[in-house]
Amino acid sequence: MATLTGLTVLVALLGCALSAMPISDITRCQYTGADGHMYDLSPLRMKGSHYFSAPAYEIDSYNIYSPKGSESDPLMYQYYLNVCDNVTKGPDACKETAPILRINPDKTCTALGNINAAIFDANPGADGVYLSYYHGDPSGGSRVFHYQSSVFFVCDNSTEMTGPTFEHQSNCFHSHFRILTKHACK
Ligand SMILES: *[C@@H]1O[C@H](CO)[C@@H](O)[C@H](O)[C@H]1NC(C)=O
Ligand SMILES: *[C@@H]1O[C@H](CO)[C@@H](O)[C@H](O)[C@H]1NC(C)=O
Repeated sequence: MATLTGLTVLVALLGCALSAMPISDITRCQYTGADGHMYDLSPLRMKGSHYFSAPAYEIDSYNIYSPKGSESDPLMYQYYLNVCDNVTKGPDACKETAPILRINPDKTCTALGNINAAIFDANPGADGVYLSYYHGDPSGGSRVFHYQSSVFFVCDNSTEMTGPTFEHQSNCFHSHFRILTKHACK
């Protein structure tokens, strides 16, 4: 009986160790999932930034969508995006740096998140991870809402990195980006 109890405790302890809590490590730029698999996104971290521009249709001052399903003229937005770090050489329009900076059509700068409020999570229903940056600039003069963003890293074994591309800005001033990369593959 003593042996059985000991075994039961051992099994319980092992079970606990195996179903580990996911770990988001922004400093190392790594995410370890509940299954123990570690994604290392540090090769995508840059000195400087990933720079790109993207046309978007502004539906209202709140929502911005990719150029699909709208009749209006597109507006150009420029993005400076880094992975697990602040942008190091941001544009002059931005007084402070941030992990994602956006130059708006009127040439003002918006920080789409804060590196000190960053977290990795597993992509819903697929290989890969996404990195969210919260607590960017206040949105629309609000003291409550702040710009935020998520970068989805999607597994593509054929590329070191393709993108980033802008997908949309949805509710709560949340911008979505997408990067195809082999580093998001298991
Ligand atoms: C990122 O930039 C912000 C705003 O300039 C600064 O306060 C913060 O210390 C920086 N953090 C890192 C890790 O570079
Ligand atoms: C990607 O490539 C690695 C190394 O070649 C391989 O182990 C892995 O199974 C591949 N993953 C996918 C999703 O194709």
